[in-house]
Amino acid sequence: SLPIAVLVSGSGSNLQSIIDRIEEGVLDAEIKLIVSNKARAYGIERAKKHGIPYKVLLHTDFRSREDFDSALVECITDAGVGEDGLVVMAGFMRIVTSVFLGAFENRVINIHPALLPSFPGVHGQADAADYGVKISGCTVHFVDEQMDHGPVIVQGAVPCQAGEDGDVLGPRILKLEHRVLPQAIQWFGEGRLKIEGRHVELRVAGRPYASQP
Ligand code: GAR
Repeated sequence: SLPIAVLVSGSGSNLQSIIDRIEEGVLDAEIKLIVSNKARAYGIERAKKHGIPYKVLLHTDFRSREDFDSALVECITDAGVGEDGLVVMAGFMRIVTSVFLGAFENRVINIHPALLPSFPGVHGQADAADYGVKISGCTVHFVDEQMDHGPVIVQGAVPCQAGEDGDVLGPRILKLEHRVLPQAIQWFGEGRLKIEGRHVELRVAGRPYASQP
């Protein structure tokens, strides 16, 4: 199974969806480590409850982003997530530097609660609702050095109606997040994601999905 590290900053409901799919046997992965950059993140409680190794790494304890990132790389690789593994940002509210991305090239994914490249940032759901979009959703993407940016793996769409704000839209999007993130991890583990420049191709038995008969 695919060795993964999951990075969280908050409630960790996406982390929970990964744990649940693994326990159900539909996601062939093993969480080697959960890292939180917040001491009080509820994601830590989920780690404890399921007996999964975890670490709290406070970015405020480090002098620079790079120092924090190298500590992050060290604890993830020490936990056994290396060349054959994947790092999943599940509500991890930090921009990572080349120190981190260089250590896990094309092996870091993130989930965002909007249809990127629209509405990046920490209030994706509310920003989309306030803008008045008719459709929003969520995006799983490979991570680059910009915030909520990088090749898109999968997106899910939800309808949005006049008068609905981020508080209404947020839970609807979150439900979808809990489906697409484990799916993206499973595809990665099956070796089905091929990055071609900005595009990620989904493959079936080695061939592009779109060219299947
Ligand atoms: C999720 O909605 C995730 O998409 C979002 O934070 C939430 C974390 O919830 N991430 C971002 O906004 C990234 N810019 P969770 O801790 O319950 O999984």
